[in-house]
Amino acid sequence: MSSGSFVDVPKDLLKEIKRLEELFTVDTAKLKQITDHFVNELEKGLSKEGGTIPMNPTWVMSFPTGYETGTFLALDMGGTNLRVCQITLTEQKSEFDIIQSKYRMPEELKTGVAEDLWEYIAECLLQFIQTHHGDVSKLDKIPLGFTFSYPATQNYIDEGILQRWTKGFDIDGVEGHNVVPMFEKALKERGVPIKLTALINDTTGTLIASAYTDTKMKIGCIFGTGCNAAYMEDCGSIPKLEHLNLPPDTPMAINCEWGAFDNEHKVLPQTPYDQSIDSDSPRPGQQAFEKMIAGLYLGEIFRLIMVDLHDNHDVNIFSGQDIGKLRRPYTLDSSFLSAIEDDPFENLSETRELFQNQLGIDPNQSELELIRRTAELIGTRAARLSACGVAAISKKKGYKECHVGADGSVFNKYPHFKKRGAAALREILDWPEKADPNDDDPIEILAAEDGSGVGAALIAALTLERVKKGNMHGILHPENFQ
Ligand code: BGC
Repeated sequence: MSSGSFVDVPKDLLKEIKRLEELFTVDTAKLKQITDHFVNELEKGLSKEGGTIPMNPTWVMSFPTGYETGTFLALDMGGTNLRVCQITLTEQKSEFDIIQSKYRMPEELKTGVAEDLWEYIAECLLQFIQTHHGDVSKLDKIPLGFTFSYPATQNYIDEGILQRWTKGFDIDGVEGHNVVPMFEKALKERGVPIKLTALINDTTGTLIASAYTDTKMKIGCIFGTGCNAAYMEDCGSIPKLEHLNLPPDTPMAINCEWGAFDNEHKVLPQTPYDQSIDSDSPRPGQQAFEKMIAGLYLGEIFRLIMVDLHDNHDVNIFSGQDIGKLRRPYTLDSSFLSAIEDDPFENLSETRELFQNQLGIDPNQSELELIRRTAELIGTRAARLSACGVAAISKKKGYKECHVGADGSVFNKYPHFKKRGAAALREILDWPEKADPNDDDPIEILAAEDGSGVGAALIAALTLERVKKGNMHGILHPENFQ
């Protein structure tokens, strides 16, 4: 926004806008510093000593060829919804058929008891199979790829020891344990005819699904409720797997879990609002990077700023109004910020209506300018920091040109996220200005194929295929791969 829009904004409000701009702007030099530190941290995560970024090997050991076939179930336990799909990879190269059902993930399950979670998931699967296959007692076990999008240690592809809950989940008795037996127990109790062939992170699914249709895809990213990326490493560059004596040039997809980047607060420009998000979260000290970028937190950062400007600063915004609704934590999600940034009107009338309808607050014109600028600052910072992660993986791998497949609500729906991310990538990697604005960037972040559906099915197919060929690395239950 040009400073011209602020001509009528009183001085004290302008001062606050300036303060926020200083707090939230990440300039090119800072982006580069963050990226360099990021590259080191990626390396550290692969080392024997380990680092803050988990860099989890996933036992996904090849890209798809496009000629994979078969019918698979896929279960996606994301941050917001539960989705069950049946995917048929057809004989035609890179083509598939899909049927799917979405189930709401009840809010209370996220902080409830583990058994309730697994029972709910098993019920959804049972319902899906009954609808599409009829009597479950007559069915052979169907292979399933389970997209479990939380940091998990995988000594095997059919194992996932939860390192910690993220995205606001907080269920006792799961962290530090393998989730697969818990899940299988619930299936068995209900007679659900499923054999789990792969536990998958959404980023790995995104990487593989995107590579199915585009061989230039080298990185899979999620910018949604949480944020993270996966890419293909060579086993020879993973010192922490050295003891397994895998051939050094064998590929291994790494689920970075980069949400944990800079938990030590060495480079990220944390604001007091970020600190407050962290200390009030179920896992303080964790997911420092994610908490500045992911959809779960963007609305909350905004809310904290608004409440602070009402309570603690001379400007005293929304003076004399009841801000009770605004005081409720996590009452605004990132779609609220999206709507503010999308307001097409010079007088920000849509933003005003949004505040009136959702919060019972009637902002004046200057406050509306502050609101819009705040949303822009939060959204822009998220996009620019995200680019540091993409640049870091590209630098580490020496990728000068590639495609990055991205998915998630922030990537798909947040206004200008793609454009701002691309601009930051250009600054970090010192690309010259484009001769023609329609030219592609050397590294392009593009909308991904469906990772937790098609990606999960492909990973199940690739795993069955490699087991058939005798590659038993990272397989705990070979009997499920017959
Ligand atoms: C999780 C990752 C996941 C990401 C995006 C993060 O909170 O730790 O496993 O890939 O969210 O869903």
